[in-house]
Amino acid sequence: MDKKTKFVLDEKEIPTQWYNIQADLPEPLPPILNPATRKPITPDDLTPLFPMELIKQEVSTERWIDIPDEVRDIYRLWRPTTLFRAHRLEKALDTPAKIFYKYEGSSPPGSHKTNTAVAQAYYNKQEGIKRITTETGAGQWGSALSFGGACFDLEIKVYMVSISYHQKPYRRVMMEVWGGKCVPSPSPDTKVGRDMLAKDPDCPGSLGLAISEAVEDALSRDDTHYSLGSVLNHVLLHQTVIGLETKKLMEKMDVYPDIIVGCVGGGSNFAGMFLPFVKDKIDGTKPDLRIICVEPTSTPTMTKGPYAYDFGDSAGLTPLLKMYTLGHGFIPPPIHAGGLRYHGMASIICHLYKLGFVEARAEYQLATFKAGITFARTEGIISAPEPNHCIKVGIEEALKCRESGEAKTILIAHSGHGHVDMAAYDAYLSGKLKDYEYPKEKIEEALGELPKV
Ligand SMILES: Cc1ncc(COP(=O)(O)O)c(C=O)c1O
Repeated sequence: MDKKTKFVLDEKEIPTQWYNIQADLPEPLPPILNPATRKPITPDDLTPLFPMELIKQEVSTERWIDIPDEVRDIYRLWRPTTLFRAHRLEKALDTPAKIFYKYEGSSPPGSHKTNTAVAQAYYNKQEGIKRITTETGAGQWGSALSFGGACFDLEIKVYMVSISYHQKPYRRVMMEVWGGKCVPSPSPDTKVGRDMLAKDPDCPGSLGLAISEAVEDALSRDDTHYSLGSVLNHVLLHQTVIGLETKKLMEKMDVYPDIIVGCVGGGSNFAGMFLPFVKDKIDGTKPDLRIICVEPTSTPTMTKGPYAYDFGDSAGLTPLLKMYTLGHGFIPPPIHAGGLRYHGMASIICHLYKLGFVEARAEYQLATFKAGITFARTEGIISAPEPNHCIKVGIEEALKCRESGEAKTILIAHSGHGHVDMAAYDAYLSGKLKDYEYPKEKIEEALGELPKV
């Protein structure tokens, strides 16, 4: 049996262009709406928040968009990333399935987020911006943008969801090492934060609330823009380096995945992996390819939410996106996969789900940690709680192959390491973690506030 385990491209094969799915969608995306007029947004609506190059990328239908040399030069620090064949996991599961995973944990902050953080910092710098605000859940995005800020000498202010700020103090320290400033959200630094603290001084926060704080901050200063780590089309675009590298490596091996599985918070890492492949399903070349998005049962956006226009943040400051949503006021239970606690989902993923090109599943926290431990004990990598969700489903699909005897090729989008998540593993190993069921009443309450469009 061929034991080759690591598959890597040469540095000169780092993609020179990002892939834009908007060129190949069977139907165009529903438009983004202005929150005040409820009419499709214009570039002018977005200029207080984003540089023009990113606004253009958001609506572009060009299939390929050049990656600036300055961005590619920084990508060289960790890209191309390795595609692994999980021989030891396959053996432990006694499965005929071939399991591969593309590992984004080798970037400086330890996740895929750097792929877009560096690009966004670059375009802001080009436009003369001095300071960027953002939100972060688990702290991966805040640390990635702090690193991006360090690359282009920009000041970064991060509003970190309070529960994660306290669960993961070392993420804050990482941001500070790269020169970023991080505060727990809700914070006293914005009106949105102060209002929430007055209502609930112990509020655990949510990504939606942290986004409101970061947007309010950015709108209050001319030298400041806002940056989002997921959800938006340009963020997913930047992440396609993951799928493009994987596709090239698999072509060299003459293999093609039967199943691609990834975790989804706002959807950026998984979309980055599957968009270059879903193109083949859309054009009919690979009709049987299965693409499975995995979310937590505590935040079941795609599996339980309606498809509706909603705000990206809790205060209703952002444009309206058509997406599966749990309602912008939804405050998710405090699970450890902080990056998956988001009420909405990338429009691109929702559109493809609605059209039947992707599937969705929800998983309980305890089962995902169990899968993460199996993965660590076979493959060595201690994964972040987020990718443990898709590792769980990857293992499940491999076990189905054991039953059926099929040697399917399963590709896992592995978004990052869990080295700063030891408190979560400690809680799991000492039996303190619990599962959270879908909080039906809370979601119904939040859905009552969906904007009328
Ligand atoms: C390691 C990791 N994986 C996945 C996610 C989820 O984000 P997205 O769905 O945008 O990839 C996060 C978000 O913080 C993360 O830190």
